[in-house]
Amino acid sequence: MTERHDAVDVIRTKRDGGTLADDQIDWVVDAYTRGVVADEQMSSLAMAILQRGMTREEIARWTAAMIATGERLDFSGLGKATADKHSTGGVGDKITLPLAPLVAAYGVAVPQLSGRGLGHTGGTLDKLESIPGWRAALSNEEMHEQLKDVGAVICAAGSGLAPADKKLYALRDVTGTVECIPLIASSIMSKKIAEGTGCLVLDVKVGTGAFMKDLDQARELAATMVDLGTDAGVKTSALLTDMSTPLGLAIGNGNEVAESVEVLAGGGPADVIELTVELAREMLAGAGVTGVDPADALKDGRAMDAWRRMIEAQGGDADAAMPDAPHVEEVRAESDGVITRLDALGVGVAAWRLGAGRARQGDAVEVSSGVMLHKTLGERVSKGDVIMTLHTETETRMPRGLQALDEACDGAGAVEIGDSAPERQIILDRVGTAT
Ligand code: URA
Repeated sequence: MTERHDAVDVIRTKRDGGTLADDQIDWVVDAYTRGVVADEQMSSLAMAILQRGMTREEIARWTAAMIATGERLDFSGLGKATADKHSTGGVGDKITLPLAPLVAAYGVAVPQLSGRGLGHTGGTLDKLESIPGWRAALSNEEMHEQLKDVGAVICAAGSGLAPADKKLYALRDVTGTVECIPLIASSIMSKKIAEGTGCLVLDVKVGTGAFMKDLDQARELAATMVDLGTDAGVKTSALLTDMSTPLGLAIGNGNEVAESVEVLAGGGPADVIELTVELAREMLAGAGVTGVDPADALKDGRAMDAWRRMIEAQGGDADAAMPDAPHVEEVRAESDGVITRLDALGVGVAAWRLGAGRARQGDAVEVSSGVMLHKTLGERVSKGDVIMTLHTETETRMPRGLQALDEACDGAGAVEIGDSAPERQIILDRVGTAT
């Protein structure tokens, strides 16, 4: 087959600061997916995009071209509104687990296609796989049935959804081209638009444990994604939320499931409850459900009922206790005072090295490895108090986990004790509106 463009011309256009024509974008994305454009050519183009940027029109076209490489799901036959949430990833971010059943408890269907963790941020599927028997891979028909019967499904995105993104994301991961707003926005939104949700709430994380380290960058990413969703007919809004310190007390896999179950039982850490309830409110508003307080369904057991049905529908044992790791070390306060820093990145890297995360795609993660916080940012401590415990299934991992805490913040350490800490604000800003 004769190709209608040449990859080198497309690369040169962007390298020299030009705007890619619609047909250049359609062709290069499709040709890369077909294997006609080589990895080295696409990595060069990705680097040119990272350095030169893209116009709003280019980003929209790029996103549409990625969607066109695969299938689009359609939930219009369900007879219910659909709403989904996407987080850009953080440390201790287990919010999807209580959120999906909570929203389903109000009659809104939640088709939540999730991913696995890579690097220091955890993955929702890895966490749920701590539950014995739970299955991440569902066919489109199984997903549809579960949405009809239970109202919520959390599962792996099938290989048919935006295959261009799967290939491009793996390439970006090894070519230093992940941190690029047009590429992140089009990657996330191509999958979410293809998934067929009617309403989407984005949780854009800001801080050391997130992709976006400052609020301005996060606002730009959020606005780009909200525009893409809105233009594609998906009601899209974004909350910008703090990721300078971990969410909740549990960072890992099994321990995050246990903490989510506490939230579904009406307890759990205040920050996890606050963010779960705010995101639920936003999703429900987007789906047309207003005048309700989502906190009620956490307190009265409706969200827990939906959770049990969701887990059991995917083969999981909702009553299984999470295992304890055999090797545990304590990290104690070195002085009296207030915790002024509990760095998300440092704690995230420690949990990752302890075995909660993977170094390479395809590696297994350890169910009971991770970190448990016993004190949080702003809490008063006395010298010798246990601030956190490190847990691992593999004893030889422990020294590297401890080292991650010392190395954090350019060697200043993940934990700092001082005189006073400013009050933590979880929700920093919002972009767009769900209604
Ligand atoms: N998550 C994605 O799906 N894609 C990106 O580019 C970054 C985060």
